[in-house]
Amino acid sequence: MSTRPRILTGDTPTGRLHLGHWVGSLENRVRLQDEYDCYFLIANMHAFTTRAEKPADIRRDTLEIVKDWIAVGIDPDRSTLVLQTEIPAIAELTWYFAMLLPFNRVMRNPTLKAEIEAKGLGDHYSFGFPLYAVGQCADILAFRAELVPVGEDQLAHIEMCREVARRFDHVYCGVAPETADGDYVAKGGVFPVPEGLVGRIARLLGTDGKQKMSKSLGNAIFLGDEAGDIKKKCGKIFTGRQSPTDPGSTDNALFQYARAFFKDPARLAELAQLYTAGQIGDGAVKQEVAAAIDAFLAPIRDRRRALDGAAGDAHVLELLRAHTVRANQVAEETLYLAKAAMQLDVGRRTLGRA
Ligand code: TRP
Repeated sequence: MSTRPRILTGDTPTGRLHLGHWVGSLENRVRLQDEYDCYFLIANMHAFTTRAEKPADIRRDTLEIVKDWIAVGIDPDRSTLVLQTEIPAIAELTWYFAMLLPFNRVMRNPTLKAEIEAKGLGDHYSFGFPLYAVGQCADILAFRAELVPVGEDQLAHIEMCREVARRFDHVYCGVAPETADGDYVAKGGVFPVPEGLVGRIARLLGTDGKQKMSKSLGNAIFLGDEAGDIKKKCGKIFTGRQSPTDPGSTDNALFQYARAFFKDPARLAELAQLYTAGQIGDGAVKQEVAAAIDAFLAPIRDRRRALDGAAGDAHVLELLRAHTVRANQVAEETLYLAKAAMQLDVGRRTLGRA
């Protein structure tokens, strides 16, 4: 087993990934694969919290996400893919952690509240819906991960996870509550207190120029978009500028994309200068932004295409099967340590597969 510090992060299979996922988290994941022992989780159980009656969609999206990951450069030879529903330790830890969090603390979690609002769940969400936030603590802690690369919207969940880790280590391992976050394991705790890591652009705007890029808002450029889609979507980016001779502010979605995807910083500076001087129209900048995004996405699209269809599905399933074995080695060891700390130890168990 690797001695590098561990990363755990993941995505819920609710659809295709987009540029916001790239700058928020995927880029960090790809970059950190050598430095850390990386576990990337498909949160398929979480998908059931809002779509329990759509198992076929969840299965399809599960395969799609893994394909997107491989296409952007997550390397199954260096990193471990984790299918959440195949890791029993996660479900078990969720139960124990649920007892360490006050009910009202969970319900105050701002990310949960924002999701209830955004998805229009009102007061008729399932019992399991808020439970997923506790489950997310278990995802991370089952791997005793120290670092969690995520989009900004996930930081509230990471904060809750940090609280759970400290509380468990305090209650069951006798670690003093004033211990510095970095010292919990050294002081005898089972769980490290993990840190979130937000990408270089915390909040990528959508093409509407107003809200964060999101599949459900219809303002996303997907990793699999073809050149034509990209052109069309970039042509519609909202900047609020009235005329090409207006001195424009580069504090808009258009230039956010330019800063994120231009290869040539000199060209970026030049365009920004022309734009603020009112010497170039939005249309010309949009064309260059579309070209830059297309150049970035072209190799991703090609790798993605190689995984299309039934052969791609079979390949992904085979990877998931093999990686689950590896993932369970770590998660089962964690569960064993946690149960021993809770005086639940009756000896080690082994998971099998026929
Ligand atoms: N809730 C995350 C999202 O929807 C996905 C997720 C599940 C996750 N478990 C995780 C992210 C653990 C980081 C760590 O984006």
